[in-house]
Amino acid sequence: MDVPLIIEVARRIAEAKAVWVMTGAGVSAESGVPTFRGKDGFWGEHRFEDLATPQAFQRDPETVWRFYLWRRRLMLDRKPNPAHYAIAEVERLKPRFNLITQNVDGLHRRAGSRNVAELHGALFTDRCTECGLESRFDERGLDAEGDEPRKLPDCESIPHCSRCSAMMRPGVVWFGEPLPMAALSATERAVESADCCLVVGTSGVVYPAAGYVHQSTARGAYAVEINVEETALSAVVDTVLTGKAGEILPAIAAALKELV
Ligand code: OAD
Repeated sequence: MDVPLIIEVARRIAEAKAVWVMTGAGVSAESGVPTFRGKDGFWGEHRFEDLATPQAFQRDPETVWRFYLWRRRLMLDRKPNPAHYAIAEVERLKPRFNLITQNVDGLHRRAGSRNVAELHGALFTDRCTECGLESRFDERGLDAEGDEPRKLPDCESIPHCSRCSAMMRPGVVWFGEPLPMAALSATERAVESADCCLVVGTSGVVYPAAGYVHQSTARGAYAVEINVEETALSAVVDTVLTGKAGEILPAIAAALKELV
């Protein structure tokens, strides 16, 4: 690990007026959650056109639901890793902080992050296709009151809305769909106000998410990428830290703690 560079990044964060962090699937890789691209990625084994588009859901809702229930099941015994905890720690140390995640797995909140915008929705949310009613479950499949086990592993039939009986859909954003308004405005506000940006574990090829990193640097923010490999955003940022998020981020958080 390049310790002087880590300390320099921590100093930049300490001196920044406001910080925003963009995360992608790579931040959860060390929790055992597969990424999308690359070897062993979701889109290596599955075609996103068949599973993650509104057209796929219209054509074959059972298959799409099965994919998302499988992903929920996969999450049942997954836990936040040191990268998630370090991001939550940076938030505690920097009062003006926004976390924008493309991940739907909920691990940031479980690690204690508070100011989180989920740009691509949430895996543990169902949304009615007609009236928009949402029900959110935690990672064990319990509802908001925490007392109604949903037995995710057994739930193989398509859920229907308790208010209007229409079909429910997973509360995630599919390709070709607009992003949730609240998350979009939070991201825009973060990009406008921040003078420091960390880009963690994303290939940077999905827009509009990646576009916000471009916007932030164009506005003069100091940007740092943390990734195990070069990405589409490596040439856009000021500093590239190559390595695992679960190793680099805790080192940054520890150095930051000494500075603020
Ligand atoms: P990708 O799978 O495209 O990229 C994951 C990135 O994480 C890659 O750049 C890896 O090099 C990096 N990575 C892997 N392990 C890492 C580690 N331990 N530490 C740091 N980096 C690591 O995932 P995303 O960029 O998140 O959207 O994909 C963006 C969107 O495309 C997703 O939100 C999803 C997907 O299709 C929708 O489903 C709408």
